[in-house]
Amino acid sequence: MKILVIGGGGREHAVIKTIKKNPEVTTVYALPGNGGIAADAQCFPVKATDLDGICAFVKEHSVDFAVVTPDDPLVLGLVDRLEALGVPCFGPKKDAAIIEGSKIFSKNFMKRHHIPTAAYETFESAEDALNYLKNSRYPTVIKADGLALGKGAVIVGSFKEAEETVKSMMVDKVFGTSGTKIVVEEFMEGPEVSVLSFTDGETIVPMVSSMDHKRAQNGDMGLNTGGMGTVAPNPCYTKEIAKECMEKIFLPTIRGLKEEGRTFQGCLYFGLMLTKEGPKVVEYNCRFGDPETQVVLPLLKSDLLSVMRAVRDGKLGEMNVEFSEKYACCVVMASKGYPQKYDTGYEISLPKTGEGEQIYIAGAKKEGDLLKTSGGRVLGAVALGDTLYEAIQNAYALSDKIHFANAYRRDDIGARALKAEEK
Ligand code: AMP
Ligand code: GLY
Repeated sequence: MKILVIGGGGREHAVIKTIKKNPEVTTVYALPGNGGIAADAQCFPVKATDLDGICAFVKEHSVDFAVVTPDDPLVLGLVDRLEALGVPCFGPKKDAAIIEGSKIFSKNFMKRHHIPTAAYETFESAEDALNYLKNSRYPTVIKADGLALGKGAVIVGSFKEAEETVKSMMVDKVFGTSGTKIVVEEFMEGPEVSVLSFTDGETIVPMVSSMDHKRAQNGDMGLNTGGMGTVAPNPCYTKEIAKECMEKIFLPTIRGLKEEGRTFQGCLYFGLMLTKEGPKVVEYNCRFGDPETQVVLPLLKSDLLSVMRAVRDGKLGEMNVEFSEKYACCVVMASKGYPQKYDTGYEISLPKTGEGEQIYIAGAKKEGDLLKTSGGRVLGAVALGDTLYEAIQNAYALSDKIHFANAYRRDDIGARALKAEEK
């Protein structure tokens, strides 16, 4: 089988390596992939948002199945286009991907279906937003309606900060049209949990839970990033909480989408906060999370491609999806200065990986035989363990053997999870 994977980050590298475990897979194409992914797939320089370019590619190359991973092509309707060309896809169609594409849609959707989330108001003019924010309690949270590279949510501590944020989103348009409408929502407190799930719109199978580390510096300080590391499972997410989430959040979400004619088939990501009043939705994503995927897929015992095909065919209910009892940790190695200014072009030296170890490349390019840094997040060092502690130790031991100039990582990935385990 010839498989096409859209995207070019660490998450896509994890998807590709996992799909390749299926012996029926003969070829994997990645658009655009990256210098590290090139070791596992044939990469072509077509951008994930170049829908015409991708459609032209599938007309030239026979593709048996496509996996669309990043948010923007999903929200733009790439799955609809590929399916219309006869290519079966893993990933939601445009009308279901809106659950991530518009925060206003997702908040109104949760209200319609009584799904617990932060209280909110939506605004289409800066003046109305500021009038409301004058009398708000702080901190509060301001979110751009559309996609904003994961940077569209800002926690503001005062009216002055709120004014600056509204101005930058709605007047200066730092996120382009994504910020012409905004959501202002209640600030929630509690541990955060990421739950990725497979769903064909009828059946939903949550994967093992995980914990992201979004801030750049140790101790959850510094700027928000795309994610500096992850652990799975997340010790805060107990069996009781999982049951409550299934009843109050997961099932109402897929049923609500179906009822509204937006049947979701693909990976539905629930960003949850475990508040004193119970679990609430922080956000939905219409795709695999990055770097959550890098710890979740190594724990999947079932064949990923078979599960993805069952999701596409509406037959997930016939599958038995199994996960290992082990733990996983991913330590992201970034370029110093990320998420702001950083230099690239440094040679990367990688060790041989052993049993239970993976290196997923996110930002690297090939120059001759050399692999060189080309992005902010360069790679994820992933390792398994029989305990959370062991997985963390193993991931750092693997990361210690990876070298490139100006490398930067957090030293406390999993520390919060270990603390939560003690309780
Ligand atoms: P989002 O882009 O909606 O995923 O938000 C990014 C991050 O901002 C989340 O992972 C949370 O850490 C934080 N956040 C978003 N919404 C809230 C909220 N209502 N209360 C507290 N923190 C939030
Ligand atoms: N790790 C968060 C995300 O993928 O959006």
